[in-house]
Amino acid sequence: MRLILVGPPGAGKGTQAVQLAAHYSIPHISTGDIFRANIKNSTELGKRAQSFIDKGELVPDSVTNEMVRDRLGQPDAASGFLLDGFPRNTAQADELNKILVEKSMPLDAVLELKIENSEIIRRLSGRRTCRNCSTSFHVEFEKSKVAGVCDLCQGELYQREDDKEEVVARRLEVYTEQTAPIINYYSKLGLLKTISAVGDVKEITQLAITSISK
Ligand code: AP5
Ligand code: MG
Ligand code: ZN
Repeated sequence: MRLILVGPPGAGKGTQAVQLAAHYSIPHISTGDIFRANIKNSTELGKRAQSFIDKGELVPDSVTNEMVRDRLGQPDAASGFLLDGFPRNTAQADELNKILVEKSMPLDAVLELKIENSEIIRRLSGRRTCRNCSTSFHVEFEKSKVAGVCDLCQGELYQREDDKEEVVARRLEVYTEQTAPIINYYSKLGLLKTISAVGDVKEITQLAITSISK
């Protein structure tokens, strides 16, 4: 299974990706998570990406595309993958096409998660992310068993820098201007499946699986 998850910030891409990756036994590849891991470890890639991420802008395609090409070349991606947060503009979608044609790995589906802006703001303002395994929790909607501690790995939960109000507003603009056009792009290729991202997490996962299998 080769899947792409697309949707605005806070739609629940990361939350659903964990469930879907387990269901299909495929790696969850989140470009945002890879950038944040690199920032945490102060790598060259992390240093290059940080200023863009902190402002809510996209990291330049030259950096991002190379990183994804590398990741898709790793052995675990040979049997499938779930991309979360990539592609994020039509140039990235073109580059992904090239990579997948070279590797003879066609996509099975692109799943769009739909959600209103008001709900996005509630989700991002209460989100807490595990510093260790990147799992998302929410102080109200998806509470961890112990406040501030990850249920899965006992890692520390923190609030992402880019979940500040001004940065969230810019991320939403960037989504509308640069990322939303890929929805039409994949619709034309007959790959697009759209579901509502509002409701119970497990019910949304079921909806996603049903929609992908159609
Ligand atoms: P990235 O990390 O991809 O951020 P994003 O797209 O803004 O999306 P989020 O991770 O904020 O939201 P999500 O949809 O994963 O939601 P989540 O499941 O956490 O990218 C960050 C930055 O990196 C970008 O701004 C850019 O700078 C850079 N970047 C990344 N990829 C790039 C690329 N390809 N090119 C260039 N730059 C790139 O859920 C959100 C909250 O809601 C959580 O608290 C969760 O618990 C809660 N929640 C989830 N589902 C539900 C539900 N059903 N009901 C109630 N609450 C829910
Ligand atoms: Mg995410
Ligand atoms: Zn964790």
